[in-house]
Amino acid sequence: MGFRKDFLWGGAVAANQVEGGFNVDGKGLSVADVATYKPNVDVKDYKRNVQVTSENIAEAIADKTTTFYPKRRGINQYYRYKEDIALFKELGFKVYRFSIAWTRIFPTGKEKLPNSKGIAYYKKFIKELKDNGIEPLVTLSHYEMPLELALEYNGWADKRVINLFVKFSKACFESFPDVKYWLTFNEIDSVTRHPFTSAGIIEDKTDNLEETEYQALHNQFVASAMVTKLAHEIIPTSQVGCMLTKLTTYPATPKQGDVLAALNKNLMNYYCADVQSKGEYPKLILAYFKRHNFDIKMTNEELKIIKANPVDFISFSYYMSLLAAEKENGLEMTTGNTVVGGKNPYLKATDWGWTVDPVGLRISLIELYDRYQKPLFIVENGMGAKDIRESDGSIHDSYRIEYFKEHISEMKKAVESGVDLLGYTSWAPIDLVSASTSQMSKRYGFIYVDQDDEGNGTLNRYKKDSFAWYQHVIATNGNEL
Ligand code: BG6
Repeated sequence: MGFRKDFLWGGAVAANQVEGGFNVDGKGLSVADVATYKPNVDVKDYKRNVQVTSENIAEAIADKTTTFYPKRRGINQYYRYKEDIALFKELGFKVYRFSIAWTRIFPTGKEKLPNSKGIAYYKKFIKELKDNGIEPLVTLSHYEMPLELALEYNGWADKRVINLFVKFSKACFESFPDVKYWLTFNEIDSVTRHPFTSAGIIEDKTDNLEETEYQALHNQFVASAMVTKLAHEIIPTSQVGCMLTKLTTYPATPKQGDVLAALNKNLMNYYCADVQSKGEYPKLILAYFKRHNFDIKMTNEELKIIKANPVDFISFSYYMSLLAAEKENGLEMTTGNTVVGGKNPYLKATDWGWTVDPVGLRISLIELYDRYQKPLFIVENGMGAKDIRESDGSIHDSYRIEYFKEHISEMKKAVESGVDLLGYTSWAPIDLVSASTSQMSKRYGFIYVDQDDEGNGTLNRYKKDSFAWYQHVIATNGNEL
């Protein structure tokens, strides 16, 4: 028994990391457009890289160039999408995950009517995918909310954003009825790790940051449920998923204190998917709010909406596992991410310090399936690495092939043990701007893009060795790795 016959093999990206064209055809600025590439910051010092202050935002708005704002230029997919889709077709893709930039449809988030040029672009884009036999998988919110909403409302901290997001989503469902698979919020749990990127929360304007993050998450749960309902009404065949960052945590030792620490981390990691899938807050989370005196504003009406509109499937990203201990000071910690945890001495790590744990993927699949009993979809998994393009244009990325081979092989074992898995989209099929560090040199693709961190390069696309390898995996439906 292997993968289902209609298994959705493909790749995943986000608009702000690939499109470019940040100020054309009526697009407004998003929170991603003020994310800075900082050449002199050690990329392993991730936390310092993502901290955004009111001062940084003001500087960024005044600067109209793209030099230190790589997400404004992406990899120019806005203009080169036909060429990229042709390459995805050659890879054999059944599905392509991308996000619709909210600011292309509603430039500030507050307009009454959608921007027709934004709609027209995604219509063309989706048609091109369909014409090439590729199913779109659309993320409605992937770290790119209108900047205006962050500045005016402190992002998702304010309930007024809920209806603005519902308006945007409704415009998408009405304009793109051919799309069957939708995700509401990318890595929803990440609000507590990078509140500005994920929810438009400006830290220096926020009194109680942790409380505000949980309020923003609650507002997103309400919006997600409202949008799930709308999707089902407007596109009856649609399937809507939640999306979590699967962070599997092991106890650092068998000591009881460490086991408890790991248990608590895992429960925290599950809670967003619990709310979105079961339609209810776990009682332990409500007790956590109470213990910390968090006054999260939730009405009975909102709780009813959440209860009545659970998601159809569970999607997640998987990059690493972590260790937890009762006393963390004895542990070496991971670097290079907003996710910080104990480093597992038995595992290798990437150049950015992300631990590589393929068996952890199998463990995650089994745990998630057992907990939710809904189909799963792996919508991100991959390895950021420094690739070298040889003088003949070839790129020998055997380490990436190794990474995918090990992960897909564990994924197959999970499926063989009974997990219902809809598909797998690698992050990312083509090199793009890193979400965390805004680097180009942190490369993920099967396709190399000739562009450096400062934006120099021809933007030409080249196939890496992993291209033919993944093509064969898809052609054999994962039977030959
Ligand atoms: C996920 C995000 O957290 O990780 C992506 O959903 C991101 O947007 C990916 O690109 C890899 O992270 P990074 O920082 O290496 O780009």
